[in-house]
Amino acid sequence: MKKTCFLLATGLIALAMTAIPAAAQAPIVIKFSHVVANDTPKGKGALKFKELAEKYTSGRVRIEVYPNSSLYKDKEEIEALQLGSVQMLAPSTAKFAPLGVKEFEALDLPWLFKDDATYAAAMKGPVGKWLFKKLEAKGLTGLAYWDNGFHMVSANRPLLNAADFQGLKVRISGSKIADQYFRLLGSIPQIMAFSEVYQALQTGVVDSCENTPSNYLTQKFHEVQRHITVSNHAHLQYAVIVNSKFWNGLPADIRTQLDKAMEEATEYTNSIARKENEDALEEIKKSGKTTLHYLTDQQRAEWQKAMAPTYKWAKGRVGQEVLDLLYKELNIQMN
Ligand code: LMR
Repeated sequence: MKKTCFLLATGLIALAMTAIPAAAQAPIVIKFSHVVANDTPKGKGALKFKELAEKYTSGRVRIEVYPNSSLYKDKEEIEALQLGSVQMLAPSTAKFAPLGVKEFEALDLPWLFKDDATYAAAMKGPVGKWLFKKLEAKGLTGLAYWDNGFHMVSANRPLLNAADFQGLKVRISGSKIADQYFRLLGSIPQIMAFSEVYQALQTGVVDSCENTPSNYLTQKFHEVQRHITVSNHAHLQYAVIVNSKFWNGLPADIRTQLDKAMEEATEYTNSIARKENEDALEEIKKSGKTTLHYLTDQQRAEWQKAMAPTYKWAKGRVGQEVLDLLYKELNIQMN
């Protein structure tokens, strides 16, 4: 009996001794949840970050990427970040109002950025930093802005003149600015999680949506929308965010390596966004499942005129401060 106890005790000690080094070596896990496919600028950016972060920390950090809403949908992932169930997200900035930072919606103003380069330059300036500062009070840290190009808009009828939007039920991702410009066109916007859009379009819960070519292609929206207008009427960008408590609690040397990985992953993502979307548009065209339309100068001017009051309206939503910063950065006059 005594011998059995002794053997049991030594066995347990041996087990504990092997368990200690294993526990000491357990990597820090960062769950990175997002809602789009791997084969998109954001999807590729997340995987690039994983590759670099694991390499630079020599495996002391493990990044688990959960694409395509496989872990959480839009609203849930934001709650999960605040609760600490995930550590990293890259939501579109149109979805930041539930975090209490609706100022990000200023970036959704129609025809705000004239091209990708203008967008990229603007976000590197004071406005990008100012917006990240706003996150701090919410316990979040903004690490980077990731690009995904310009929105197209679609329906089962051609959308060419402003009047074509009348009565259209349009899915929007969250921004009240988008809500406003679609309302000005006579549409009925509706916020819906990204993962639900395909089915909503297919079953007629909504008639229309806006998104970038890479999202249309990978979610197959173009298969359930007979007409797409390549309007480039608004921009889609993401902010990579982390829970500040988690981030600041990381060992400093680890954080330095993660910062480096994020910087390089950001450069990579932003360098491929445009080409990814051009290629996606080409594939959509080749699929023959939808008709692509391009606006004439006159049609564009008509849309712009109809949507223009969004700018005045925006002041009440996002406040003058962020608008002033943006307009200064973009060298545009508004009041
Ligand atoms: C959307 O909901 O339409 C987008 O924000 C999805 C995304 O993350 O690109």
